[in-house]
Amino acid sequence: MCGIVGYIGSRQAAPIVLDGLSKLEYRGYDSAGMAIYNGQEIIVKKAAGRLKVLENLTHAGETMKGTSGIGHTRWATHGVPCDVNSHPHLNPAGTIAVVHNGIIENYISLKKKMINKGYEFVSETDTEVLAHMLDYYYKGNPLEAITKVLHRVEGSYALGILFAEHPDEIYAVRKDSPMIVGRNEEGCFIASDVPAILKYTRTVYYVENQEVVRLKRDGLSFYTVDEEELTKEAVVIDWDADAAEKGGYEHFMLKEMYEQPGTVTDTISPRIKEDDIVIEELNMTDEELRNVSRIHIVACGSAYHAGMTGKYVIEALARIPVEVDLASEFRYRDSILEENSLVIIVSQSGETADSLAALRECKAKGIRVLGIVNVVGSSIAREADSVMHTWAGPEISVATTKAYSAQLVALYVLALKLAKLRGLVDEKRSRELLTELKHLPYHIEVLLGQKEKMQHFANRYVGARDIFFIGRGIDYAISMEGSLKLKEISYIHSEAYAAGELKHGTISLIEEGTLVVAVSTQPGLYQKMISNIVEVKARGAFVMAVTCEENTAIEKVSDYVVYIPETDPLFANSLAIIPLQLFGYYVAVGRGCDVDKPRNLAKSVTVE
Ligand code: AGP
Repeated sequence: MCGIVGYIGSRQAAPIVLDGLSKLEYRGYDSAGMAIYNGQEIIVKKAAGRLKVLENLTHAGETMKGTSGIGHTRWATHGVPCDVNSHPHLNPAGTIAVVHNGIIENYISLKKKMINKGYEFVSETDTEVLAHMLDYYYKGNPLEAITKVLHRVEGSYALGILFAEHPDEIYAVRKDSPMIVGRNEEGCFIASDVPAILKYTRTVYYVENQEVVRLKRDGLSFYTVDEEELTKEAVVIDWDADAAEKGGYEHFMLKEMYEQPGTVTDTISPRIKEDDIVIEELNMTDEELRNVSRIHIVACGSAYHAGMTGKYVIEALARIPVEVDLASEFRYRDSILEENSLVIIVSQSGETADSLAALRECKAKGIRVLGIVNVVGSSIAREADSVMHTWAGPEISVATTKAYSAQLVALYVLALKLAKLRGLVDEKRSRELLTELKHLPYHIEVLLGQKEKMQHFANRYVGARDIFFIGRGIDYAISMEGSLKLKEISYIHSEAYAAGELKHGTISLIEEGTLVVAVSTQPGLYQKMISNIVEVKARGAFVMAVTCEENTAIEKVSDYVVYIPETDPLFANSLAIIPLQLFGYYVAVGRGCDVDKPRNLAKSVTVE
């Protein structure tokens, strides 16, 4: 996620802004910049790279004199990491500066309008549109200009804004992306998150959606988007700095699990326009998409598990044969790739060595490669022929959760696009699926609300030696991810098995009290799964079932049942994985493991 810091008061602003941005580095970023009002004009310094580059550029802020300013650490979404795409962005006269965290979903149409009005763009970002719109609507009243822009913008945003003609004010705006403001006896502060200003004040105000804040040297004023003044209650932060980086959560993994409703929304909503699927970044004509004869999904780890689910969903909807390969296997198999194949490399980091090597092999064979990648500007994102970003923001915890969930919905959206182009999904079915897609974030929120229940159950298994996950079809793919989540952070041995395969060997491992997690979200397989549960129960297993609310019959044969809200079976993975993430997390916490940095693991495996 991008980081925003702003200050206006009696002290020099640049050092405070730099210090605040350094406390937001944990959020992940690829460039940084500041805009400071120096008494005559707005000075901007920005650069790709670490915050150190900006510190050196400004001699730790010493060369940017002034007592009001805004700063930004950029996590690229639109436009690769580079100096020009870094924030702040300016209007043509350089009298308005803006920094932004979030995604302007309608920026392409807004950009066209501003170009038609004579504005020239220098960056590839969505944010620059805001600078020019503020310029267009500014007639001397900042609040009026801001609210006019907000009524025309769609998407998520937290903004810091500086107007050279109003040097005794800075502005903060929020919709969906986090933002707080605070004050002390030396001035007022804007921040994306508490850590940035905890050193200066523990009294903060959480800016709510569609609120605008005017910050002066001696106070804060809050307004609605209709310019009505608001009063807000302050919140006193009692976290320490370390807890504050995790937003009050004990671990980044838990924080990122709770970000899943937002990241799923951010990945889906820019691609649904008037009840149709629009994936502009595919860079493939409808004809080219229709002619895809076979899809190869190539990935590692959790990305591979997401790809497994992608196979079932794409084949079910678009009837295109899909092969899913581990990148480390694919790259040494001299794969047979048909001319009209499409290779999809799924990767959170975009730097996984095996996945990158697989990409390069496919390109060398002249096969089109689509990346589904979280890190903008990463190697896989740059080298793929086209890329669908997952917009999950930076994922700090080694064990992926929010990026995995975003990969799933990116694959659902792609599957639906392919199916509609082939006329295999009629308007009614398409609307049903889109409705279910839009409901996923709410269902995920509900399931996250059951964390205490999962914590209680998990505590019973902190001493387990083996834990098995079983499922069929999509439930097998879910089992693979549930098993990986558990073993990679708790170090308990775990295996996922195709439930129908148990009797071919693994069932001999089931002993009295062995925990078997049975995932059963596919109505057509409910009965089969009940038979598999009976099989393992007969060998002494303790069975936790994860299933849909309608499938109450499973209670008769299971020892513990976790229900997920009704959704289309094709999307059930997005819901069933939530209790399994929580289970793995709480088992690891119960065992005192280093949840965010598990032993032997790296967040990005850039070596073979
Ligand atoms: C998942 O929790 C692990 N961190 C790991 O399996 C990961 O999914 C795998 O290394 C692939 O990483 P990537 O998505 O960045 O390519």
